[in-house]
Amino acid sequence: MIAVVTGGASGIGKATCTALRAEGFTLAVLDLDVSAVDPGDGGSARVADVSDAGAVEAAFAAIVAEHGRIDVLVNNAGITGGPAATVCHETPVEDFDRVLAVNVRGPFLCSRAALPTMLAQGAGHVVTVASAAGLVAFPGRHAYTASKGGALMLARSIALDYAGTGVRSNAVCPGFVRTPMTQWRLDVPELAAAVEANIPVGRVAEPEDVADAIAVLASGRMGYMTGHALVVDGGWTVR
Ligand SMILES: NC(=O)c1ccc[n+]([C@@H]2O[C@H](COP(=O)([O-])OP(=O)(O)OC[C@H]3O[C@@H](n4cnc5c(N)ncnc54)[C@H](O)[C@@H]3O)[C@@H](O)[C@H]2O)c1
Repeated sequence: MIAVVTGGASGIGKATCTALRAEGFTLAVLDLDVSAVDPGDGGSARVADVSDAGAVEAAFAAIVAEHGRIDVLVNNAGITGGPAATVCHETPVEDFDRVLAVNVRGPFLCSRAALPTMLAQGAGHVVTVASAAGLVAFPGRHAYTASKGGALMLARSIALDYAGTGVRSNAVCPGFVRTPMTQWRLDVPELAAAVEANIPVGRVAEPEDVADAIAVLASGRMGYMTGHALVVDGGWTVR
């Protein structure tokens, strides 16, 4: 079983690689920098910017040539945008474009590149890491919130259009996870306390909490489920 994980060099993606290896998957990792990636036995790691159509096409062609199939695609690579990307009228246009390019165009391009192989197999699963910010608006994160809503609907669109082909598509919506993306906030005690005060279970998620959910989806269990948003947020969006 071959799993492609984008953004597999850090945070949730890295933990997902570990979890999927434990489930017996052979990994094909894509990231901007794979110099520190250990893809494990028989695995591969390639540099690719998921927002670059040519780079994505070339990377998936190379993955299929090397591994022969793609059973699971984890669309995980993502960014939040720079510090200036806050509320709508203050968000620089180039920040908005970049966040949408990585967080929506990226899953689109990677899914587009993986689906022909999945269709030929008559089986496959696209798992897209959206966010709780795709379900409820995050304050001061306009582009990110818009992008994660887009990523979630991209996952649902694929689920609908490919239902009946053996290809499924689901999303995972993490809440607040301790990764390099968020560590700057958790390093400031007052900001960390404010984050945790909003999480009913009383702690931020570790990357392994999200990787565990992705691994359950990737395992093929819950096989009747497609187009679902699996929320892993410690109860953040419950109220
Ligand atoms: N950390 C959180 O609290 C949180 C919450 C909800 C959703 N998410 C989502 O989870 C995913 C992973 O985030 P993380 O917290 O592990 O972040 P991270 O910054 O630790 O890791 C992101 C990885 O994606 C890679 N990446 C970024 N842009 C890329 C591109 N254009 N092409 C290829 N790779 C690229 C980075 O190099 C990095 O390895 C993202 O989609 C993020 O939006 C994170």
